[in-house]
Amino acid sequence: MKIVYWSGTGNTEKMAELIAKGIREEGKNAEVINVANANSGIFDDEDIIILGCPSMGDEVLEESEFEPFIEEVSSKISKKKVVLFGSYGWGDGKWMRDWEDRMLSYGCEIKEDCLIICGEPEDEDECIDFGKKIILL
Ligand SMILES: Cc1cc2nc3c(=O)[nH]c(=O)nc-3n(C[C@H](O)[C@H](O)[C@H](O)COP(=O)(O)O)c2cc1C
Repeated sequence: MKIVYWSGTGNTEKMAELIAKGIREEGKNAEVINVANANSGIFDDEDIIILGCPSMGDEVLEESEFEPFIEEVSSKISKKKVVLFGSYGWGDGKWMRDWEDRMLSYGCEIKEDCLIICGEPEDEDECIDFGKKIILL
């Protein structure tokens, strides 16, 4: 499984690593990929796509790398299952609600509730367990 993420101060990256740990603990392969190293075909062979990005700007995705990546893959991910996660600071999670709606508009399926965490993921098991559930989708 491939987890593509953007992270400015490491919180979403830490979530990505812990989610990958959960997936691996269930015996599946998990690759954690910084969006800077991802291309638009990265999910071509995947049934499930896992994406992480914190709330940036004013309740939006990070605009220089992650946002263009989502645009690039948007026409290639219809009917795939999508799992979203990310860290936020002071908002109420609007960026994630908007992001979910957007992925649905691309024809993706959302079977697992997203995981959002304020600041740094302190409860590591929350992320690990989230990863374990992904393999059941
Ligand atoms: C430029 C900038 C804009 C941000 N905008 C929001 C926002 O609109 N809503 C929010 O809840 N948090 C916002 N945050 C807080 C980040 O989402 C939060 O610090 C998060 O933990 C960063 O995750 P990261 O360590 O993966 O980069 C913003 C942070 C920065 C640096």
